[in-house]
Amino acid sequence: MKMSDKISIMFSEEEVSGRIRELGEKIGKDYAGKEVLLVCVLKGAAFFACELAKRISLPVQMEFMRCSSYGNETESSGVVKIIQDLDQPIRGKNVIIVEDIIDTGRTLGYLVELLRKRDPESVALCTLLDKPERRVTDVKAEYTGFQIPDEFVVGYGLDYAQKYRNLPFIGIIKPE
Ligand code: IMP
Ligand code: MG
Repeated sequence: MKMSDKISIMFSEEEVSGRIRELGEKIGKDYAGKEVLLVCVLKGAAFFACELAKRISLPVQMEFMRCSSYGNETESSGVVKIIQDLDQPIRGKNVIIVEDIIDTGRTLGYLVELLRKRDPESVALCTLLDKPERRVTDVKAEYTGFQIPDEFVVGYGLDYAQKYRNLPFIGIIKPE
């Protein structure tokens, strides 16, 4: 780790895992008697999706998708390319898209539309973090871990230039 990047804690490991537990319990109640398919958006949502899945007391299937959104290091352009698609049809399923963060909303706006066209029973969005101030595309999540101000954050799956995903807390990074 480059020690010159300053990272200050926004949410501790305990706060994050406590909140994930609450989200899992809420999803378990909302979908009681049903099965859910978590669609994890790689790479960022991997840590969150795995922990969330453990907290949902229903039959849970997991699928992974990877998309890249063209843009610079800190802002997406809205042109989304699917790098790895789901390997099963989602027709008739209760899909919950699991994302690390909604920023401008461009990536999720595209993804929600794409999955809706595949005729699922339902599509909901679950994001660990939300930066509403930055929204460009109107996207709302049914489940949100934390709303945060316009700061660049890392940890719990979120990266800065592919680093810091493994931090067990969420921190604000001030790159050097
Ligand atoms: P959007 O299309 O602008 O909503 O972009 C969402 C994607 O941008 C997320 O999935 C992240 O990969 C990335 N992103 C946005 N804000 C942050 C941040 O604060 N830290 C790390 N990645 C971020
Ligand atoms: Mg992401």
